[in-house]
Amino acid sequence: MTKRFYPSYDFEKQNSIPFDGRYLHPGSLVDKPYPEMPLIDAIHTRRTSRAYSDELVERETLEWLVSSAMNAPTACNEQQWKIIHIQNKDTIQNLYERGSAAFLKNTKQCFLICYNSKNDNPRWADYIQSGSAFATLFQLLAHSIGIGSCWICHLPNQNELKRMFNIHHNYQPVCLISYGYYRGKSKIIPRKHDATKIIMDEEFSSENLQFASHRKMLYRHVLRSIYYKIPPFFRKKLRKKSLKHEKKFYYEVND
Ligand SMILES: Cc1cc2nc3c(=O)[nH]c(=O)nc-3n(C[C@H](O)[C@H](O)[C@H](O)COP(=O)(O)O)c2cc1C
Repeated sequence: MTKRFYPSYDFEKQNSIPFDGRYLHPGSLVDKPYPEMPLIDAIHTRRTSRAYSDELVERETLEWLVSSAMNAPTACNEQQWKIIHIQNKDTIQNLYERGSAAFLKNTKQCFLICYNSKNDNPRWADYIQSGSAFATLFQLLAHSIGIGSCWICHLPNQNELKRMFNIHHNYQPVCLISYGYYRGKSKIIPRKHDATKIIMDEEFSSENLQFASHRKMLYRHVLRSIYYKIPPFFRKKLRKKSLKHEKKFYYEVND
């Protein structure tokens, strides 16, 4: 077998995004989009962004991104995505008040990825996989032209979203993507695991597995289920109180 050498990624050596040794500054891409960014740079320098500039992303740009992300693989090559684009302030506020991720209320643009879930392989939930493949490509492409994004699953239950957006009964919402032109910088946070610890040969190895406490998870799961079963009107009333239970991962730095 030919042995090929793939060097480890060095942020200092890439030329795609200004890097000051600690932070990446993807904002430079807003004025100088770089759609030819090497794929390896796009993958390593994309970080979730939850705060965006006031300037809206134009429709044409969104369409370009969507048509490019539609090259994502799909189960049986069905390509059955539908994208519900949301810019209406009241709708975004409504999503927030019903219990979606808190930062969403400061967002101006987002979309719900929906996918046809009526197929012959429901056990593998392949509609989620096909929708997720789209989301991944969208985020990478958007990044290369100065648009940051966040994948959001902290949302009301699927049926509630289906009613809110009048989604066809054969379709399921997969996730919400907020997006906008970059405003902040992002910290390089090393990945949690080494690839050598992820790859298992031939069968699953249960050595050194780490899990969150079962009790804590069960508690959060029950709390979340009860919360989203409360009628939206009362949930809106509770929203400020429920914020402290929200799990947050914010690490990007905004000016
Ligand atoms: C399936 C999924 C669900 C996510 N849901 C949320 C969410 O509800 N709220 C949020 O702020 N970020 C959410 N994220 C973004 C993650 O928090 C983020 O990807 C993670 O912290 C790693 O950061 P990175 O994307 O910069 O590598 C989600 C990401 C994925 C893939």
